Amino acid sequence: MTAPRRKALITGASAGIGATFARQLAARGHDLLLVARRRDRLQDLANELARQHQVQCEVLSVDLASPGATATVMAHLDRLGWRIDFLVNNAGLSGHSKFAASPWAPLAGEIQLMMSTLTELTHAIAPGMIERRWGRIINVSSLAALSPPGESLLYSAIKSYVLVLSQSLDMEFKPHGVHVTALCPGFTHSEFHDVMGTRNTANRLPRVLWQQPEDVVEEAIAAVTKGKPVCVPGRVNKFLTIVMRPMPLWMSYLMGRTFNPFK
Ligand SMILES: NC(=O)c1ccc[n+]([C@@H]2O[C@H](COP(=O)([O-])OP(=O)(O)OC[C@H]3O[C@@H](n4cnc5c(N)ncnc54)[C@H](OP(=O)(O)O)[C@@H]3O)[C@@H](O)[C@H]2O)c1
Repeated sequence: MTAPRRKALITGASAGIGATFARQLAARGHDLLLVARRRDRLQDLANELARQHQVQCEVLSVDLASPGATATVMAHLDRLGWRIDFLVNNAGLSGHSKFAASPWAPLAGEIQLMMSTLTELTHAIAPGMIERRWGRIINVSSLAALSPPGESLLYSAIKSYVLVLSQSLDMEFKPHGVHVTALCPGFTHSEFHDVMGTRNTANRLPRVLWQQPEDVVEEAIAAVTKGKPVCVPGRVNKFLTIVMRPMPLWMSYLMGRTFNPFK
């Protein structure tokens, strides 16, 4: 009798890094539940991956920035009769307006999407992994969590939360066979800067700072497999982290205030 295929849930799978996770996990033989808002994109990708890799690919269109999102995802898993072995909390975006000038709703949406739903989904899925003594969780943070703070970037604060939460959950879960990795990508080719409205500025940044999503995802999967709690993908990002981390807080603040390209 063959073992059942591992089941992976990927949020934000309709584009960029999330769609790349879907491709690489399907190629490794995982069944997939792809979650995001744009159903047509998810369905096209699911059809392609099911055909290419003979895996089961399900889709769920849900706004993960709404407070009931985790319940919707868990109800869908119940209907499928699935238990998740590999969770990728990837869905995310960054606003680009001043904190005080922004209405509350979009800021609350960022917090719900990248903090509350990520945490709630992990809380709902991790106990099953612990019970079965096997699980892999990748939470997509950002190099922003390890960089000097940027003006008006609620995003940096949120991604710092994701980094610390992941490290702390890894300590709790690892003795039970569940690895948690915070993925901290730097600039990665995706739709992120189109959504943020910073494409022109992003295009002016040196090419050496950019990575392809395929390289980021490959390094992330290798890291969680080995049980590394933090993954900074790419040589340039690793170098930047080494340079930035020992900086005194006053210098980090000054650097963030002076060199924010998106200001
Ligand atoms: N690209 C970079 O330079 C970079 C750097 C560091 C970290 N990151 C992080 O990497 C992750 C993936 O971003 P990406 O670069 O791949 O950007 P992307 O190409 O814009 O993809 C973002 C994904 O998140 C989904 N999403 C956004 N809001 C959502 C919502 N309310 N409900 C459900 N899904 C939602 C989008 O799907 P729908 O629009 O279909 O809902 C899409 O699939 C994010 O967490 C981002 O913060 C990116």
